Amino acid sequence: MAASAEKQKFLLYGKSGWIGGILQELIKANGDEVVLGSARLENREHVIREIEEHKPTRVLNAAGVTGRPNVDWCESNRQTVIRTNVVGCLNLADICWLKGIHCTLYATGCIFEYDDVHRVGSGIGFTEEDVANFDGSYYSKTKGWVEQMLREYEDQLAVLRVRMPISDDLTARNFVTKITKYEKVVNIPNSMTVLSDLLPVSLEISRRELKGIYNFCNPGAISHNEILDMYKEYVDPDFTYTNFTVEEQDKILKARRSNNELDCSKLVKALPDLTILEIHDAMRERFFGSLLSSSSSSSS
Ligand SMILES: NC(=O)c1ccc[n+]([C@@H]2O[C@H](COP(=O)([O-])OP(=O)(O)OC[C@H]3O[C@@H](n4cnc5c(N)ncnc54)[C@H](OP(=O)(O)O)[C@@H]3O)[C@@H](O)[C@H]2O)c1
Repeated sequence: MAASAEKQKFLLYGKSGWIGGILQELIKANGDEVVLGSARLENREHVIREIEEHKPTRVLNAAGVTGRPNVDWCESNRQTVIRTNVVGCLNLADICWLKGIHCTLYATGCIFEYDDVHRVGSGIGFTEEDVANFDGSYYSKTKGWVEQMLREYEDQLAVLRVRMPISDDLTARNFVTKITKYEKVVNIPNSMTVLSDLLPVSLEISRRELKGIYNFCNPGAISHNEILDMYKEYVDPDFTYTNFTVEEQDKILKARRSNNELDCSKLVKALPDLTILEIHDAMRERFFGSLLSSSSSSSS
């Protein structure tokens, strides 16, 4: 990827997180500077102090409450969710706006669900103009509220709608790992974010100070079964899985899950010099390709 030449000083929030950890490595590999934010996002004075002390050229917000072991946790920890994902997130966007520093937020696209206009398999994805239509979980509901308010900060902010992230390994957070561990799995096409393909793109968005909301996924949609069939093909020929319906899944979860396809054409058009792979190609070339090459290098 042809990265912008000017070196940046990134101030990163979410240093101990999954996405934050990968970002640190990418920034260092490119020779840019990364300062790790230690303020809690809701602590306005501390955030301001940190920004004034470090004088970053860009801010990255990969901090957020996602819930452990999964997003159901957010249903019974609502104040904690609000404190970080609403108050903290708006606080940082507001401070960056006041100080004229570009901020990139790793947000979520799990604020939509298929509807009569955006039907499963129709290829009609939700655009950046669309307003959240999924509030089946407290996590998604609050993320949708915040996204609407963040539109007021768009002249200093890029909001990246990440979905079902897939990293280059089989870490427990990886969407592929998650669905291989489920006893039963639904089978619905979804937009997804292959991190090794798109996190470098996010740093370009930051460097170039792109503004506004972006559907931050690989174009297209891929179903659970397509992924599991690829897993069987590339990783474990003996792997088997069993499907169940969304209605059956709803019975075993505290909160419903979002299923949707996002239209990624705005992202692709905004960065015409970068290659953003279609989701099936990204899965084969980036995810399974890198798993295979790391397993062959460890066995040689
Ligand atoms: N993982 C996913 O499936 C997924 C999907 C779509 C979007 N996203 C979004 O991407 C972002 C990063 O996700 P992730 O999976 O990397 O999250 P993660 O692994 O759970 O890490 C979250 C990070 O946020 C920090 N944090 C939490 N509350 C904070 C606060 N009040 N102030 C400052 N830092 C705080 C945590 O630090 P402490 O440990 O010190 O609290 C941690 O470093 C989140 O906003 C998430 O909603 C994630």
